Amino acid sequence: MADMYDFGLVGLGVMGRNFILNVADNGFTAFGNDLDAEKVNALIEEGGDTAKVNATSDVKTFVDGLTTPRKIMLLVPAGKIVDSVIEGLLPHLDEGDIIIDGGNSFFTDTDRREAYLKDKGINFFGAGVSGGAEGARKGPSIMPGGSRVAYQHVKPIFEAVSAKYKGEPCVAYLGPKSAGNYVKMVHNGIEYGLMQLTSEIYDLLKKAGGLSNDELHKTFADWNQGRLQSFLVEITSEIFEQKDDLTDNDLVDMILDKAKQKGTGKWTSQNAMDLGIPVPTIDVAVSMREISALKEERVQADELYDRPTPANVDKDDFISKAEQALYFAFIITYAQGMHQLADASKEYGYELELGEIAKIWRAGCIIRAALLADITEAYQADEALRNLLLSPSFVEKVKSTVEAARELVGYGAANGIPLPGISNALTYFDAYTSSRLPLNLIQAQRDYFGSHTYERLDREGIFHTEWENK
Ligand code: 6PG
Repeated sequence: MADMYDFGLVGLGVMGRNFILNVADNGFTAFGNDLDAEKVNALIEEGGDTAKVNATSDVKTFVDGLTTPRKIMLLVPAGKIVDSVIEGLLPHLDEGDIIIDGGNSFFTDTDRREAYLKDKGINFFGAGVSGGAEGARKGPSIMPGGSRVAYQHVKPIFEAVSAKYKGEPCVAYLGPKSAGNYVKMVHNGIEYGLMQLTSEIYDLLKKAGGLSNDELHKTFADWNQGRLQSFLVEITSEIFEQKDDLTDNDLVDMILDKAKQKGTGKWTSQNAMDLGIPVPTIDVAVSMREISALKEERVQADELYDRPTPANVDKDDFISKAEQALYFAFIITYAQGMHQLADASKEYGYELELGEIAKIWRAGCIIRAALLADITEAYQADEALRNLLLSPSFVEKVKSTVEAARELVGYGAANGIPLPGISNALTYFDAYTSSRLPLNLIQAQRDYFGSHTYERLDREGIFHTEWENK
C-alpha cells in the first residue's frame, strides 16, 4: 500500500474501475472512492497485491491519502450526483486542488461548477472521456477543459493513460471552462450521425442488395480495410457475426428496433439550433431514434400503407456505391460537427484548435476513423478553415463519392427505404455549395405578410416594399 496516492477517482462503476486500473498500469499510484463497499472491495481485489491501487468508502480517508495538489476525477452519472459528490469532497480539500468531472455533464453545468469552485480556490475540469469500458482500461480519448495552469498537474497522468495514435497521446488541453464537455458533446453528436448512417447502409444492403448477415459482415470488414476504416465500421462487421444464444438466429435479427439515448446527441442538436449552426445529419439522427421509439404506432401504420418492393440491383455495383455514399456522408457529418465546434468556440470563448481536436479523436474514442487523420491535416494546413468542404484536400474525396450518394438517395426514395441521414448529408452538401438558394422568396414572403424587410443583391441597406397586390 502506498503512503500517498498520485491520483484519486470517485465512482468505481465500470468506467471508474477500468480507468483507475489504467492509471495504475501506467506507473501512478491511484486511490478509489465509492460509497458502495462492494465496489471498493472489488477494486482492491482486482488491483491484486500491487501497491499501486487502493480504495476506500470514507471520503476523508480518501482525500487525506492524496498528494497535493490533489487530482480527483469523478466518473459518476451526470446530473445532481456530480454536485453532491463535490459537496462531499469540499470540506476536506485545500486551495489549488483539482476536481475533474469525467462524465457526460451538460456544458452549462460545468460552467456553473467551475465558477462556484473557483471562488473556493479549487480548479474544476470538465473532461470528456470516450471509448467505453475498454477505452477506459486500455486508452481512451480524453477531452479536458478548465484552467490551463492547473492542467499541467494532470497532464502527465492523462498523457500516460490515454490512447496513442502513432505514439501521440489522444488528449490535449482544449480550452477554458466547459470546453472539454462541449467538445465531448459534439463528439457524441457526430457519433449519433455516423451510427444513423451506418444503419441506413445496412438497411439498403439488406433490403435492396439482399445481403445475408454473413455477407454484411464481410462487406463491413472489407470496408474497414480501406478509407472507411473506423471503430464503428469495425464493430458493425463484428455485430453481424454474433449468434444469438437464446435462439438459432443471428443476434442482430433478434434485437428490438428501438434505439435509446441518454441525451448528448439531442444536446448537440439543441445547442446547434441555439447558435444557428446547421447540423442536419445530427438532427435527423436524433429524430430517427425518436421515430424508432414509436414502435407500436409504426406497426399500426405499416398495415395502412403500401410500400414498394425494392427494385433489383446489381449487387457488386450496389455495394460499391454504398461504400462511396457512406464515405461521403461520414465526411459531411464530421464537417457539420467541426463547424459547430468552430462557431461555438467563438460564442463561448473556448479558443478551440480544431486540428488538435481532430488529432485526439484519431484513436481511443468511439468516432475514431482513418478520416480523422485527413481532417487533422486539413486543419493543420489551415487553422482558420471554416468548413471541411472548403478544404482543397477534401474536394476530390467529396466529388468522387457524391454521385453514389445521389443514386442511393434516389433509390431509397423510389423504393420506400428511409435514408434521412444520407439524404440530409446530400442536401446539406447541395445547399452549402449553392451560391444562390431560393431563400430570397422566404424574405419576400416575410416582408409581404409582416413587413420584416429584406436586403438586396445590388445595394447595401434594409428594404421594405408595399407589395402591390396585398
Ligand atoms: C463514448 C460514448 C459514450 C456514450 C454512449 C451512449 O464516447 O464513449 O459517446 O460517452 O455515453 O455512446 O450514448 P447514448 O446512450 O446517448 O447513445
